[in-house]
Amino acid sequence: MEDFSDKVVYQIYPKSFRDTNGDGFGDISGITEKLDYLQELGVDYLWLTPFFPSPQRDNGYDVADYRKINPKFGTMEELENLIRKSEERGIKIMLDMVFNHTSTQHEWFQKAQKGDENYQKYYIFKEGTPDHVPTNWKSKFGGSAWEYIPKLKKWYLHLYDVTQADLNWDNPKVREELKEILRFWKEKGIKAFRFDVINLVSKPEQMEDDFEGDGRRFYSDGPHIHEYLKELVSDAGIEDFITVGEMSSTSLEHCIRYSAPKEKELSMCFNFHHLKVDYKDGNKWALKDVDYKKLKKLFIEWQIGMQQGDGWNTLFWCNHDQPRIVSRMGDEGIYWKESAKMLAGMIHFMRGTPYIYQGEEIGMLNAHYPSIEQYRDIESLNYYQILLENGKTKKEALEILAARSRDNSRTPMQWNKEKYGGFSKEEPWIPMSAEFRKEITVEAQQNDKNSILTFYKKLVAMRKKYPVIAKGKISFLETETDMVLAYQRIFQEQQIVVFCNLGRKEQNIKIPKEQSSWEILLENYEGRKIPFEERYTMKPYEIMVLGKI
Ligand code: GLC
Ligand code: CA
Repeated sequence: MEDFSDKVVYQIYPKSFRDTNGDGFGDISGITEKLDYLQELGVDYLWLTPFFPSPQRDNGYDVADYRKINPKFGTMEELENLIRKSEERGIKIMLDMVFNHTSTQHEWFQKAQKGDENYQKYYIFKEGTPDHVPTNWKSKFGGSAWEYIPKLKKWYLHLYDVTQADLNWDNPKVREELKEILRFWKEKGIKAFRFDVINLVSKPEQMEDDFEGDGRRFYSDGPHIHEYLKELVSDAGIEDFITVGEMSSTSLEHCIRYSAPKEKELSMCFNFHHLKVDYKDGNKWALKDVDYKKLKKLFIEWQIGMQQGDGWNTLFWCNHDQPRIVSRMGDEGIYWKESAKMLAGMIHFMRGTPYIYQGEEIGMLNAHYPSIEQYRDIESLNYYQILLENGKTKKEALEILAARSRDNSRTPMQWNKEKYGGFSKEEPWIPMSAEFRKEITVEAQQNDKNSILTFYKKLVAMRKKYPVIAKGKISFLETETDMVLAYQRIFQEQQIVVFCNLGRKEQNIKIPKEQSSWEILLENYEGRKIPFEERYTMKPYEIMVLGKI
């Protein structure tokens, strides 16, 4: 596989990116329309979240046909046009393959439901009676992970919504079907794949109750997962593609195996441990302040661990499932700009492949919806009910959603200051963020050399310019407080060092003598002078990148 260490991926949630035909629903032509913008940003790959036919119970992660396009998003011709036009600009397309489950509207499930036993073997069906659920496992969207079909006298497994039935990867026919789908898209000119919750696909043969948790310890990084991935990638002929696996509740050891080149599984992994440092006792639906000590420890552990094992990380804060990072770990008020830049720089100089999620590059903020009517996400709507059942008041439940809902990142992209942000002329499928302000738009930031957008352009360009960012060895520096993160990268003669103040209090750092006269490569405050004094006071959310280049 060719070296992809200097590549940057941009994630598009098509439904909320740009609507060209005025139905309030983003579309493929909307992406094509914005290619100049994306090229200017400098990104190499566009990861498009699913646009396949789907009842949209889980916004397209409930796929009803893997080879077609949901007419709401456009046509195959429009997609082919997008692939072609992107290629002309040196941009490749990454598709999102949801292979852990299908929608219950998928033809395979429909046949299974009508009694076809061959197709029942495509899923995880268990015979039984309605009063006896096969295991006590919980769905990740709330409630039981099993659903009973009285007509069949069988239960089926769904780790997500009841309309997302888990596929049976132990059936070789299923694995063949999935390879065929990959070949189909490869033929169309797709050059990269993201695999949705891929480490959940290998279930244990014997399924037992979980008295310690929700069942995940039995099926996460399951018994045949590595074998199945190797087979999938080699049989589908995508060894030289960028492949990224979304890994749910995974471990460092497994991620090394998933991504080390010698294993021939995937190019890289997403893991989420660093995005759980504000969960109370691991519970997403219980609020807690960010634990910075833990955050730092996790970055160090994963960066160093992946390096030692020759694994490869993704570097990301945001995606369509995560609240906006500036609302979460930065400042929505006076340090909006500084904190957005610091958070971006903090991960972009690490070892791995950066992912930018639409709107992150302009510092978009959480939705701040005042009522439940504005939410669309199935997980949020389910948990709102669960929170009420558990005794929370409506106000408390809404506060939790405001911090944790996936809809925080699904609000329409803010292109300009028009009523619907230039996303659409008509009312969008989901309301604009209440924090939609004119400075948080592409239009306002495009020609401003101090904008967040300009900062992101620099980050992308620097990765291509300085091999040390793409290829350097990483090590972390000791700091006096958990509120400062400092690390160094080394590659041949090149060296950089990155200092980040993670919070709004000033922090003192020691700048080692030999680094004090290095060049300032990037900063989010101006007016620093070299050489630095040994003790330097970092301003709120300050980032400083020094280099011997
Ligand atoms: C992944 C997706 C998420 C989806 C889930 C089930 O986590 O990112 O949006 O709901 O898988 O497919
Ligand atoms: Ca549309």
